[in-house]
Amino acid sequence: MNSRMARLHPYPFEKLKALTADIQPANLPAVLWGIGEPKHAAPSFLAEQLHASLDGFSMYPATAGLPQLRQAIADWCQRRYGLKEAELSADENVLPVTGTREALFSVVQALFDADSSKNDVWMPNPFYQIYEGAAFLAGGEPRYLPCTFDTGYQPDFNALSDADWDNCQLLFICNPGNPSGRLIELDQLRALVKKAREHDVILVSDECYSELYRDENNPPPGLLQAASLEGGFDHCLVFHSLSKRSNLPGLRSGFVAGDADLLATFLRYRTYHGCAMPLPTQHVSIAAWNDERHVAENRRLYNQKYQAVQQILGDKMPVDIPDASFYLWPNLETDDEQIARLWLEKANIHVLPGQYLSRQVDGINPGYGHVRIALVAELDACIEAAERLRPLL
Ligand SMILES: Cc1ncc(COP(=O)(O)O)c(C=O)c1O
Repeated sequence: MNSRMARLHPYPFEKLKALTADIQPANLPAVLWGIGEPKHAAPSFLAEQLHASLDGFSMYPATAGLPQLRQAIADWCQRRYGLKEAELSADENVLPVTGTREALFSVVQALFDADSSKNDVWMPNPFYQIYEGAAFLAGGEPRYLPCTFDTGYQPDFNALSDADWDNCQLLFICNPGNPSGRLIELDQLRALVKKAREHDVILVSDECYSELYRDENNPPPGLLQAASLEGGFDHCLVFHSLSKRSNLPGLRSGFVAGDADLLATFLRYRTYHGCAMPLPTQHVSIAAWNDERHVAENRRLYNQKYQAVQQILGDKMPVDIPDASFYLWPNLETDDEQIARLWLEKANIHVLPGQYLSRQVDGINPGYGHVRIALVAELDACIEAAERLRPLL
């Protein structure tokens, strides 16, 4: 067996299942605030597109995707990040992926050089668990940058020494962050791009929550934008998804964009790996990337839920509405495993203990004391859940 497999941690939801196995939840409708799975309706206008492209199931798709899909993605990036006309080439700088989860994993397998003397893969802590698993299985060494109240819940990249940069092959950022929903600002992104190029580090930016922002006039900055301002996309890869933006987690559709050389290698890897996107999925994706109305409506629904929950619980626990995402990440300053058990037992509310998303480094687990609340349930369910919680806080 592959000895690296032994390094994989149990997934957070497996840990949660074990933690709560002996609990009889309160006899109330369950509120699933644990898993970050969007629950708003998928955009209905896509049904027509899906129906019209059904014959695509009778053909093998190409790994690089349809030129029309790559172009729709390139156009979206240009509009969203104010890129110069044709700066991002649909042929060289864009690749469709079947959801960012598989792509964030496989990009490390394709690009990490296990024979190099540089061994480190840096990531935020807490983090999306795929980053760590990808590093382990590629033969790299995960290194964790704490995201705490003191660091604004995003990593403090100034904590990395030149030696750290020199030993690093690949650095993950998650912007907006999961679980905090906090942003890395454009100046910081530009500084990161410069550092990465200086030390020959690949920057992998997971931006799958980028469209779930609070302020319609102030969308979060992205790494493509920063890289463009620094003269081009080299050393930079960004990952976007339709799962959260368009409530299509089951479609399995996203893209990676950026450095043409890295993408050429990734494409070759994917050809062997065999994860081309089905043609009907590609046609639906084109329609989804070309429409922003449903995304604005999606943001409106999340904003409503944030406001409602803050109104009910704001005086009982820290409900800091984040810049983006659909999470709350309150610091309850007590054992988060006990909280998850208590809320389940007394209110049938499922949340994820923060420590399951983080690793302990130098005796500190930065997720400890926090819970991750995913405001994915409908507004009424979120209001009812918040009311159930009030007496427990
Ligand atoms: C931070 C982060 N990145 C990536 C993903 C993967 O999303 P998908 O594979 O649906 O694009 C998720 C899903 O929850 C996530 O939270």
